[in-house]
Amino acid sequence: MTIDDHDDLEGLRRCGRAVAAARDAMVDAARPGVTTFELDEVGRRVLAEHGARSAPQLAYDFPGTTCISVLPEIAHGIPSQRVLNDGDVVNIDVSAELDGYWTDTGVTVAIGDAGPDAGRLIETTREAQRLAMQAARAGAPLRSVGRAAARHARRNGYTTVANLTGHGVGRFIHEPPSVATVACAGDGAPLVEGLVLAIEPFLSTGATHAHEADDGWTLHVRDASLVAQVEHTIVVTNGEPLVLTAPG
Ligand code: CO
Ligand code: CO
Repeated sequence: MTIDDHDDLEGLRRCGRAVAAARDAMVDAARPGVTTFELDEVGRRVLAEHGARSAPQLAYDFPGTTCISVLPEIAHGIPSQRVLNDGDVVNIDVSAELDGYWTDTGVTVAIGDAGPDAGRLIETTREAQRLAMQAARAGAPLRSVGRAAARHARRNGYTTVANLTGHGVGRFIHEPPSVATVACAGDGAPLVEGLVLAIEPFLSTGATHAHEADDGWTLHVRDASLVAQVEHTIVVTNGEPLVLTAPG
């Protein structure tokens, strides 16, 4: 969506605070011995406290409140009785609707000690996502957003997962435009002030493609690659973007 007025901005900010609070509470609770179902319950409670409803449930009838993916799962993982172990790399993705506004955020965390390779990948993904957000300025071509993340990935020896993209958001969970994390080509249409985007590069030690599992939801990699994602919902401005899902 594109923001029309102050009410839009305030509504989006409230929804952004809800998903950010749920995400951060889940990150705090993510430790060895916890099941992904228990982690999802933490997110469910925080969203409910804010009066927000799970976006994947509402939009797609997803069997969980949030998406929790344990490598080699990388996205849309279903909360379950799976116990988190030391060394797991876990993606927590929280999206919700509040008063008709929708926002989306995600982060990848290492459980206990997952080793230096995972730590470096997660940190570089955070940097790539920040560069992509900063590239999202009014007047800049849409492709400059994904390019910024993809170039940072490449400079650090990482690939990007090309078939997982950022997206418009705001009035629904997935809206146009699609924001691919690729270094070349892409949409040259100029970004407009007030556009709401979920920017979520997936960086990897080698994977370039996410594959869908038999459950019809979970996306995973077929090799031993590490993958990390960071996602924030932003509003495009003439300068620095407004980050709606920053930590509280
Ligand atoms: Co998300
Ligand atoms: Co998203």
